[in-house]
Amino acid sequence: MLTTESETITALDLTWVRCQFPSLSRTVDGHPAVFFDGPGGTQVPQGVIDAMVDYLKQNNANSGGAYATSRFTDAMIAGARSAMADLFGCDPDEVVFGQNMTSLTFAISRSIGRELGPGDEIVLTHLDHDANISPWRALEERGVTIRMVDIHEEDCTLDMDDMARKITNRTKLVAVGYASNAVGTINDVKEIVRLAHAQGALAYIDAVHYTPHAPIDVRALDCDFLVCSTYKFFGPHMGVLHGKREHLQRLQPYKVRALTNAVPFRWEWGTLNHECIAGITACVDYLASLGRHMDTSASTRRAAVLAAYEAIQRHERSLLERLVRGLLAIPGLKLYGIQDPQRFHQRCPTVAVRIEGQSPLALATKLGERGFFTWDGNYYAINLTERLGVEKHGGFLRIGLAHYNTGDEVERFLRALGEIVARRG
Ligand SMILES: Cc1ncc(COP(=O)(O)O)c(C=O)c1O
Repeated sequence: MLTTESETITALDLTWVRCQFPSLSRTVDGHPAVFFDGPGGTQVPQGVIDAMVDYLKQNNANSGGAYATSRFTDAMIAGARSAMADLFGCDPDEVVFGQNMTSLTFAISRSIGRELGPGDEIVLTHLDHDANISPWRALEERGVTIRMVDIHEEDCTLDMDDMARKITNRTKLVAVGYASNAVGTINDVKEIVRLAHAQGALAYIDAVHYTPHAPIDVRALDCDFLVCSTYKFFGPHMGVLHGKREHLQRLQPYKVRALTNAVPFRWEWGTLNHECIAGITACVDYLASLGRHMDTSASTRRAAVLAAYEAIQRHERSLLERLVRGLLAIPGLKLYGIQDPQRFHQRCPTVAVRIEGQSPLALATKLGERGFFTWDGNYYAINLTERLGVEKHGGFLRIGLAHYNTGDEVERFLRALGEIVARRG
């Protein structure tokens, strides 16, 4: 693997990082696979794979039984809750496991909806993934009014004046993404939480796209709920929700009678995916070990996770600069979202483009044949693709970088895309 000058400056030990992920050595018809599909789901380190396999081999059981493997399972789930609490910056009993972000959001929206009716309003945004829209729109059947916050088309940022106008004393909840999975914009979530609370509304944050790229501190945000999916940040296919204890206690979940009313278990329905939960601890521990690898002075797991994110952010920023510079040099290419490197702290390394005369699907297919894994379409950010008028034309080509990507991969990608565009084939 080539190590370039800017990668050396970032100080992320890419050799160490890439050794943790067995899938990165995959090839496609002789081409090395380049995983620019992180926003759809990242690759998984060996530690996560081992934890899942070991659980199934040694300790597979249901929870709550009076025997060894069941006791192990209870302790293992408690351990994963602590790990996620370290990642979120909250207490373990404020962590709820679920099938994925979408299911958790429907669970919370149905429960909050029990208390809402005509005259109540919910504020959503055009930038969001549909998983943070449809569960709230479902409450229109109870007479709730939905208000949509617009975007600035030129850079795909939220119109914060519109946000401030739409949040009123009728607003009961504001649901917003931390970062856009289509165009990468990072929203000023702290300010949105402040605006919501000033009108007595709850704030529900979709951090699915943000979590692989930057650290979360739910106490500093003061958000009421924050939800993420572990398969987007190097873990197994599950969702995890943080809820403030007072809300998890007060709100009434739909649940079976036999399930305890204790928090957080009352929000976890049926038997959870235990092997995935075993993988979640290993996923947070992967970040912590990356952090300790970069900063040996990190004394707690949370400190180590924060150190990892610092290194991740520096590295991704340098990759993003190279990618955007190269993309903008391709004739006929339109990049959606923030383009000015001075403002790259306001975005993730997730880049949406369209190229004149080429459909996003055709581009993704040709790139895929050369081993570059990108995505085409709307990625469920359908309000955004409709708002920008690209939904009927195949959406965008999305290039999503993760910290295990290299400058060399970015350069090879730019060359391949340049060739495809030049040949139109
Ligand atoms: C920003 C964002 N929110 C929500 C989701 C839905 O997550 P899940 O698949 O865990 O339901 C996704 C999935 O792509 C996403 O990118």
